[in-house]
Amino acid sequence: MKKFVLVTGGTGYIGSHTAVELIEEGFEVVIVDNLVNSSIEVLDGIEQITGIRPHFEKFDLCDSIKIDELCKKYPRLEVIVHFAALKAVGESVEIPLDYYYNNLVSSINLLRAMIDYNIPNMVFSSSAAVYGLPDKLPVTEDSPVKKANSPYGNTKQIIEEIILDTINVNSNLEAISLRYFNPIGAHKSALIGELPLGVPLNLVPYVTQTAIGIRDHLRVFGNDYNTPDGTGVRDYINVVDLSRAHVSAIKRLLDKKCKSNYEVFNLGTGKGLSVMEIVKSFEKATGQKIKYKIYPRRPGDIDIVYADTSYSNRELGWKAEISLEETLLSAWNWEKNIRKKS
Ligand code: NAD
Ligand code: WQD
Repeated sequence: MKKFVLVTGGTGYIGSHTAVELIEEGFEVVIVDNLVNSSIEVLDGIEQITGIRPHFEKFDLCDSIKIDELCKKYPRLEVIVHFAALKAVGESVEIPLDYYYNNLVSSINLLRAMIDYNIPNMVFSSSAAVYGLPDKLPVTEDSPVKKANSPYGNTKQIIEEIILDTINVNSNLEAISLRYFNPIGAHKSALIGELPLGVPLNLVPYVTQTAIGIRDHLRVFGNDYNTPDGTGVRDYINVVDLSRAHVSAIKRLLDKKCKSNYEVFNLGTGKGLSVMEIVKSFEKATGQKIKYKIYPRRPGDIDIVYADTSYSNRELGWKAEISLEETLLSAWNWEKNIRKKS
C-alpha cells in the first residue's frame, strides 16, 4: 500500500521538486500550501513530469482547525515534510512579527497534529544559516549554532528547539532536520523551478535574469573577501539532489534506522564556489555572457561557508551527484521556459 506523505509548502521551489521525487518513489503525496509565495500552476508541472497530480489543499498552516480537518480527511499520513515558511532574510528584518508568527505557529500546529493524530515522523527544512559565521570549515553537524543574524534565521533555530523539546516528551515521535546550504537549479524538464517575486535576492536567479535581459548586469557584492578570488564562497547544491536527500531521510524514518529520535544532517556538496566561479561556469554551460559590476559587500554576508557532508553521505546513503554545469544549465532552461509563458 502506498505511504501517505504530507508536503507543506509543496507548490514552492524545493517542495515541488521533492513532491516529484516522492511520487516517482511511489509515495502518495498530499500538498498543503496557501500560495503566499507560489502558484497553483506548479501542480500542472508536477503532473506533467510524474503523470500523477498530487492531492492539494489550499490553506494557511497557522489555522489549526484546517489542519484538524486535513488530518481527518487523510487519516493515513505517516510523514510530514515541513517546507512551508517565509524565507526572505531581508524582509524578515523589516517585518519580524510576520516571520515569527508564520514560521513558528505553522510549525507548532503541525507538531500538535502529529501528537493528536498519531503522525510519527517529520522532516524539517532547516538552514545553514543556523551556523552563522562558522569558526571552522567545512561545517559539520556538530558545529555550534550561532546567534542568528536575522529573524528568519532565528525562526529556524527556534523551530529546531521546539521540535526537539516536543520529541523529548513524546517518545513515539521522530524528526530529522535537514540544514540546506545553497539550493540552486531546476528540474531537468524545465517544468518546475524557482519563481522569485520581484528582484531576486539570490545569486543564480539574478544571473539567469541578467542573461535573459531582465537585469542589466549582475551586481557582485564584494571582491575583497578573504577568498581565492575575493568574491564570496558558498556551497551550491542542485535542488533535485537536495530533494532526493528528503526521500532518503523519509525512508530512514519509516525504516526505523534513526540513531536517536531527533537527528540533524547537512545538505550540501562539500565544495565551496565563489561568485565569479558561478558566473564563469554559467557562461561555459550556457554560452551566455554575463555582464557584471563589482559592488560593495552586502550587509550581513560572510566570506566563506561550505558543508562537511561526510555524515549525511554515510548515514543517509545519499550524495549530491549532479554537476555544476548541468545545474546551471537547468536554471537557464527554466528561466527561458517561464519567460516564454509570460
Ligand atoms: P518557497 O517560498 O518557494 O516555498 C515555501 C512555500 O510555503 C511557498 O509555496 C509558500 O506559499 C508556502 N507557505 C509559506 N507559509 C505558509 C503557511 N503559513 N501556510 C501554507 N503555506 C505556506 O521556499 P523554498 O525555497 O522552497 O524553501 C522551502 C523551505 O526551505 C523553507 O522552509 C525555507 O526556509 C527552507 N530553506 C530554503 C533555502 C533556499 O535557499 N531556498 C535555504 C535553506 C532553507
Ligand atoms: C550567494 C553569494 C552574495 C546575489 C541566502 C540566505 C540563506 C539561505 C540561502 C534560506 C553571496 C553573492 C548574491 C547577487 C551577489 N536561505 N551575490 N550578487 O546569502 O549565501 O544565502 O540564501 O535559508 O539563509 O541568506 O545566498 O544566493 O543570496 O548569495 O554577488 O545579486 O552571492 O554576496 O556571496 P546566501 P545568495
